[in-house]
Amino acid sequence: MSKGVFVFALIIAYVGSTLAAGGVFVSKEEASNYLTREKRANSGFEEFAKGNFEQECVEEICNYEELREVYENTAQTNAKWDELTRQCENMSPCNDIGTDTCQNLWSSYACHCHAGYTGVHCETDIDECAGEHECVNCVNTVGSYTCACDQGYEGDFCTEDVNECDNDVCENGDCFNTDGSYICLCDAGYQGTNCSQDIDECQQNETCVHGICINGIGTYDCVCSTGYEGDTCNDDINECENFDNLCQNEGECVNDVGSYHCACASGYTGSDCSQDVNECDLNLCPEGSQCEHGANSYTCFCPDEGCGASVDTQLQQAVDP
Ligand SMILES: *[C@@H]1O[C@H](CO)[C@@H](O)[C@H](O)[C@H]1NC(C)=O
Ligand SMILES: *[C@@H]1O[C@H](CO)[C@@H](O)[C@H](O)[C@H]1NC(C)=O
Repeated sequence: MSKGVFVFALIIAYVGSTLAAGGVFVSKEEASNYLTREKRANSGFEEFAKGNFEQECVEEICNYEELREVYENTAQTNAKWDELTRQCENMSPCNDIGTDTCQNLWSSYACHCHAGYTGVHCETDIDECAGEHECVNCVNTVGSYTCACDQGYEGDFCTEDVNECDNDVCENGDCFNTDGSYICLCDAGYQGTNCSQDIDECQQNETCVHGICINGIGTYDCVCSTGYEGDTCNDDINECENFDNLCQNEGECVNDVGSYHCACASGYTGSDCSQDVNECDLNLCPEGSQCEHGANSYTCFCPDEGCGASVDTQLQQAVDP
């Protein structure tokens, strides 16, 4: 390879890498230095003192042939050439985590960082949250950042309202989505944010006013005491209207709250007036006579041996009082 062709190839490589690297480390100024120096080389390399050139060759770009002329020894030249052109491989200077690629430059190197990293060696995590961002709650992470959305919001920047109703969040009720939240209107018998809790109606006063309350999931039952009816056992049953023949022997049925009673006709007794009153217990017959009771009546009579004359008159009065 002639010197001219080699230099041309270096320029191509250099320009290409500069474009790819976005101009890291080697500036336009350095590039023009190189071109200037190339002119001098063309005008006569031999005129430079070797010591001078060794320094220049390291500080600026030269080619292998030029280096060979400085060292006049292949092993030394190779070692120096390696040192000047392969720093990425020899030193691994870039941070392992933050670096995308390491680029060899003349007597140098350039670290090209992954997104989220910066620094000469890509060793520094960029705090994206410190700069401008659209995130509602920005949390910086190593190499990146996240938006920690408030409950009820989603999306890359936490700006979208979550429609909780899409997930049947109200277990026993109707769901209404709101900005950042939702509201459940519970069915009867349920309570709580998500209408998931059973209401124990039996813990409330007067759920079953005259009866026993039995709680169920989402509901309850009242088992009413005798004499009451209705959902809350608060309705009096009118037994006198609902049932026939509660009172015997023409007794009158009288409704009471929660019960009834019978007003018995004269001569009868008992809760249903079925018992005949034993009038003989009242000792209404005169001394010496005998008593025999009947339905609402009694009879006083004299035994075979007789009562005595005075009793006859009293008997008349007692039978027909
Ligand atoms: C209501 O449902 C949501 C979504 O399932 C849940 O995150 C929340 O903890 C529930 N709230 C209650 C009080 O159970
Ligand atoms: C139920 O009634 C009792 C006694 O009258 C009262 O102390 C209590 O506060 C009431 N409870 C409710 C939930 O109304």
